[in-house]
Amino acid sequence: MDEKQVKKRRIVLVPVPAQGHVTPIMQLGKALHSKGFSITVIQTQYTRVSSSQDFSDFQFLTVPVTLTDSDLQSLGALLFLMKLNQICEASFKHCFAQLLQEQVSRDDIACVIYDEYMYFSAAAFKEFQLPSVIFSTTNATAFVCRSVFAKVNVDKFLIDMKDPEVQNSLFPGLDPLRYKDLPSSAFGTLEDSIKLYSEAVNTRTASAVIINSASCLESSSLERLQRELQVPVYPIGPLHLAASSASSSLLEEDRTCIEWLNKQKPRTVIYISLGSLGLMETKDMLEMARGLSNSNQPFLWVIRPGSNPASEWTESLPDEFGRLVSERGYIVKWAPQMEVLRHPAVGGFWSHCGWNSTLESIGEGVPMICRPITGDQKVNARYLESVWRIGIRLEGELEKETVESVVKRLIVDEEGSDMRKRAIDLKEKLEDSVRSGGSSCRSLDDFVNSLQTKNF
Ligand code: UDX
Repeated sequence: MDEKQVKKRRIVLVPVPAQGHVTPIMQLGKALHSKGFSITVIQTQYTRVSSSQDFSDFQFLTVPVTLTDSDLQSLGALLFLMKLNQICEASFKHCFAQLLQEQVSRDDIACVIYDEYMYFSAAAFKEFQLPSVIFSTTNATAFVCRSVFAKVNVDKFLIDMKDPEVQNSLFPGLDPLRYKDLPSSAFGTLEDSIKLYSEAVNTRTASAVIINSASCLESSSLERLQRELQVPVYPIGPLHLAASSASSSLLEEDRTCIEWLNKQKPRTVIYISLGSLGLMETKDMLEMARGLSNSNQPFLWVIRPGSNPASEWTESLPDEFGRLVSERGYIVKWAPQMEVLRHPAVGGFWSHCGWNSTLESIGEGVPMICRPITGDQKVNARYLESVWRIGIRLEGELEKETVESVVKRLIVDEEGSDMRKRAIDLKEKLEDSVRSGGSSCRSLDDFVNSLQTKNF
C-alpha cells in the first residue's frame, strides 16, 4: 500500500449522540488515524466530543438539529433516535456538501463510516456517490437479531411476547437466545423497537459492516452475518484494546475513586454501573444498598445524576441510604471505568451489560453480575451467563437478600473464582486477537486494504 496515498485520504465518522456509541466510534477513529487516514467526525450538538479530548488531529463538524426542550425531555432514547432519523437528512446533506467542497477531489474521501442507527445519512452518501460502511456498536449476535426482527410477523410476535411460556422458550434459529433475551428498548414500546430495527435494516446500503467484536467471542454469529449480508463483515474489536487509549467521555470522570480503590484489598470490591442511560428507582436503590451492606464487601457505585427519576442525585434519598453506603461503599457520579476495571482491588462488576462495559470487563478478566435493562444488553447478559459462563444473571425484583447472595457468590464463593478463571482465559484470547497476526488485527488491515480497491 502506498503510505503517502493513504495519508491524503479522509474517513468520515457519523456517531449516534450517546456515550455508548461515541466511545467505540472514536476508538475506531483512533485506530484508522494510526493507519494514516485523516478523520472527520460529523456530530450533533447534543453530545459533542471535542478536539481537546485527545483528538487534536481530528476535524469536527456539527449538524444543527432543531428539537424543542419538551421533545428532548419527553422523547426517551428510542423515540429520540427515530426523530433524529426523521429530521436530520437535509441538514446532514448540507454539512456534507460543505465538506466535499473542501476536498480537492471526491476520491479524497475514502469512505463514510456511520453508526447503524444514523441510517438517515445513507441518503447523502447515495446522492454524493460516496462509499459507506456501517459501524455496529453492538455485537454480531445482536446485529443478527435485528435482521430477524425485520422479517418477523409483527402481530404474531407481539402476542407471543406477552405469553410467559413463550418468553422463556428458545427463539428458533437463535439458540441460546430465548424470546425474552431478544433486543428491545425499555424506553419505548416493542412495536417502536421493531420499527427502529426494521428501518435500520431496510436502509442498509453500505459496502461493508464493521463490528466491535472478536471471533473468539461469537464466531458462529459472525459467520452467519458474513453468510447473510451481501457485503464483507469486519470484526475488529475490542476497540478499546485495539486502539490507543483516548478519552471520549462526555461526563467528567471522578478520579478520587482510584484513591479509594488503592485502600481496598485485592479482588474484594464490587464495581456497580448502569452505563450512560440506565435508571434505578428509589426502592431498588435502597434494596441494593441494604444487600451490599449485608454482603460485607466494599463497593464502588456509579450513580449518574438523573439516573434516579425521583432525585437530582442522591440528595432526596432517605437517610438510611447515606448511612448504608458510607459504611463500606464509595459513590461517584461518573468513574474512569476502564481504569477501575483494571484495578487489582476490583473483584466483580455489577453491570447493565452494555456492550462496551461487557468488552471492558472481559478485557480485564473481571466476572460480572448481569442486570440488563434495555436493547442488546439482554443478548449480552445471556452470552455472559450461558456461553462464556463468566456472569450471574439477576432477574426479577431486587431484594436485599438476593443482592447479598449474588455479591457473595461472585466475590467470595468458588463459583465466582471459577468465573474469574474463565474471564481471564477470555481476556487473553481478546488480547491475542488484537495483537499483530490476531484475527481482529488482520480484519482491520483487510478493511484498510479494501479501501484501496476501486470497487469498494
Ligand atoms: C448503549 C448500549 O447499552 C450498548 O450495548 C450499545 O452498544 C451502545 O449503547 P450504554 O448503555 O451507555 O450503551 O453502555 P455501554 O455500552 O456499557 O457504554 C458505556 C460506556 O461508558 C463504557 O465505555 C464505559 O466505560 C463508560 N462509563 C460508564 C464510564 O466511563 N464511566 C462510568 O462511570 C460509567
